[in-house]
Amino acid sequence: MRILVTGKNGQLGRSIYKIVNTANGDNLSPNEFIFVGREELDLSSEGSISHYFDSNDRFDVIINCAAYTAVDKAEEEQELANQINHLAVKQLAEIVKAQKAKLIHISTDYVFDGESNKSYTETDKTNPINVYGKTKLAGERTLQEIMPTNAIIIRTSWVYSEYGSNFVKTMLRLGKERNELNVVSDQIGSPTYATDLAGAILEIIDNKDYQDKKQSTEIYHYSNAGKVSWYEFAKEIFKIAKIDCKVHPLMTEQYQTPAKRPKCTLMDSDKFVKKYNANTYNWRSSLMKIQENIKYEK
Ligand SMILES: NC(=O)c1ccc[n+]([C@@H]2O[C@H](COP(=O)([O-])OP(=O)(O)OC[C@H]3O[C@@H](n4cnc5c(N)ncnc54)[C@H](OP(=O)(O)O)[C@@H]3O)[C@@H](O)[C@H]2O)c1
Repeated sequence: MRILVTGKNGQLGRSIYKIVNTANGDNLSPNEFIFVGREELDLSSEGSISHYFDSNDRFDVIINCAAYTAVDKAEEEQELANQINHLAVKQLAEIVKAQKAKLIHISTDYVFDGESNKSYTETDKTNPINVYGKTKLAGERTLQEIMPTNAIIIRTSWVYSEYGSNFVKTMLRLGKERNELNVVSDQIGSPTYATDLAGAILEIIDNKDYQDKKQSTEIYHYSNAGKVSWYEFAKEIFKIAKIDCKVHPLMTEQYQTPAKRPKCTLMDSDKFVKKYNANTYNWRSSLMKIQENIKYEK
């Protein structure tokens, strides 16, 4: 299969690349993977999207890892966030449908308001409380409308990796610079190591039914297993990295951000695990894996 991966410089795009290629960049997979960033395919420009697909051969699968992910900045840049997370997804879905190809699109726990005290399943009511969440939900909806078959939407949460900037890397940096830190303790979620999510996406692609059959479009949740607050997560990061930095719990009200954050977005990955016979790893064991990998990456 010819597989296009967007967002090649992002956490998830790079994690997929790491699994399907050797360190020298040789393809390890029986499939042909093409990785693109905004230089080749700019999702903020309708013209760039049409031009890219008009000037390339058909793909069998498109994995859309690109997104506008700056949650706070999205409050000011609503139009741009909407273009990338919603309108570009609409255009991609139209192209993928016309090519009779398949689309795997990544969405977020931020489509929920976080007021539930149990893990969210795919059928739970969505109610985003910030611009980022609203634009991602609009992207999901338009995709479902245009492609009632052959698309998969994976909602994930609290993604971190050895690449780019994320909570784990920020804590590792701050923990070395400071003796104590205040971290929010009343927001609960399911951290997700991008390599685990990348592996889960590749499980879908390897699945015989996925390759052979036309299937109805489905939403799946995928995150690491377990439940943790940012405060507990920070403490565990320091414990594993043997960093001596005291962490103090902070309430959301004491830490104002431009975008509101949902209080509790635990994700129930059961539907995905059963369908694809996949692993979801405990957040703590995945955190141990990244601490090893991070030493070798920028
Ligand atoms: N990070 C999280 O905590 C989190 C949580 C839940 C869901 N998700 C979802 O998971 C998916 C992957 O997220 P991630 O953590 O890998 O995000 P990321 O590291 O921020 O990567 C996003 C990628 O999208 C690219 N992008 C942004 N604007 C673009 C444009 N106009 N045209 C083309 N590419 C553009 C960025 O390119 P540049 O590198 O050039 O900026 C970046 O490489 C996204 O759909 C995100 O919404 C993420």
